[in-house]
Amino acid sequence: MFRKAMVSDCAAIKRVMDENVVPTWPEENVRYAVENENSRFFVIEEDGEIEGYACVETVLDEATLTSVAVIPAKRRRGLAEKLLSGIFDGLAEVRTVYLEVETTNAAAIGLYNKMGFKEIGRRKNYYGPNDAVIMSLQLYNKKGVN
Ligand SMILES: CC(C)(COP(=O)(O)OP(=O)(O)OC[C@H]1O[C@@H](n2cnc3c(N)ncnc32)[C@H](O)[C@@H]1OP(=O)(O)O)[C@@H](O)C(=O)NCCC(=O)NCCS
Repeated sequence: MFRKAMVSDCAAIKRVMDENVVPTWPEENVRYAVENENSRFFVIEEDGEIEGYACVETVLDEATLTSVAVIPAKRRRGLAEKLLSGIFDGLAEVRTVYLEVETTNAAAIGLYNKMGFKEIGRRKNYYGPNDAVIMSLQLYNKKGVN
């Protein structure tokens, strides 16, 4: 089930994050993002287990994908794509989504490329020895604007 994250999900989200994402967030940041009205925090839940999550923060007509993860046992089933496209479809005011990803993260870059994100820049040594790729996705066409 794809649904909005609730405060009661925070501990489970934090576990998924700790096991799959570097750097991870303190639990209070997870809770802040779940409660913040400028965030869109969604989870995939199956039989009471959080199998994945994604969080997008919005400011006016821009959004930033701040974290996404799917547990290893459930990868390559389209869950991340479903999470992100579900969130993006609900971003009525947003025209551009930005993200940063480590150059070595082939799975995430594959996901973002498939979803139409384009590289717009790099940050040198952003992740220790590795650079960050900065990507963006225009949502104009989905909303029929231009
Ligand atoms: C990146 C991540 C969220 C993808 O989740 P997922 O549910 O497996 O992704 P999906 O099944 O929706 O894949 C959608 C597309 O992404 C691409 N993709 C996903 N995993 C990939 C991989 N390992 N290698 C190359 N491309 C990949 C493919 O194009 C895939 O479409 P396809 O299966 O039709 O080929 C998952 O690998 C993950 O949790 N990684 C660890 C956390 C992370 O790195 N998060 C991003 C930075 S915070």
